[in-house]
Amino acid sequence: MNSKQAAAEKAVSFIQNDMIVGLGTGSTAYWAIEGIGRRIKEEGLRIKAIATSKRSEEQARGLQIPIFSFAEIDSIDVTIDGADEVDSNMNLIKGGGGALLREKIVASNTTQLIIVVDENKRVQWLGKFPLPVEVAIFGWEKTCKKLEALGCIPRLRTTENQPYITDNGNYIIDCDFKEIKQPQVLHEKMNAIVGVMENGLFIGMTKKLIVGYENGETRTSDWND
Ligand code: A5P
Repeated sequence: MNSKQAAAEKAVSFIQNDMIVGLGTGSTAYWAIEGIGRRIKEEGLRIKAIATSKRSEEQARGLQIPIFSFAEIDSIDVTIDGADEVDSNMNLIKGGGGALLREKIVASNTTQLIIVVDENKRVQWLGKFPLPVEVAIFGWEKTCKKLEALGCIPRLRTTENQPYITDNGNYIIDCDFKEIKQPQVLHEKMNAIVGVMENGLFIGMTKKLIVGYENGETRTSDWND
């Protein structure tokens, strides 16, 4: 079992019958979705799930995990998701996989956000991983200039030489800050720019962090408000 799978499996053990569960996106969340599918099949676990991307929804449907929309549920009990960086205050950079807007909508409607990562994701300061920012396509060049003025080197995300398009029909600009010393301030400045749909800083949202290690062990930390 690799470190990502170990962390994801541990998180899946916290899911109980009748919970509404948010399904994250990425190579670590993948293992959580697999684990939930296995528990449904082997133990008859009863849950309702909501997915943070088309990719995760497709995977979940293939495993007979029942998928619901926001119109059909109240709040989400637990969401299991990955992260690109985690600092010592459990603040995150997310969006490397391009799903940050849906991930943040799901996280902000979740009672307990469980973040699953391998040990390489832990950092002293956020920002070495370029911060993904989802922006409207219309006027993106101007939005990009305004992001640059916040002190980063911005780069439009591309795939196969074309701009990458999110599940919501937007672009992503990856903003290289090297170090983000005041994540909350930056979060507010970015989201105040017209054209920015959401940025990949997840501040004060994580309630449980599970780190997986190469030897298959995990370490769980809880955030106490
Ligand atoms: C998806 O948009 C991201 O937020 C992922 O959760 C993040 O990039 C972590 O992905 P991995 O688990 O694949 O590293």
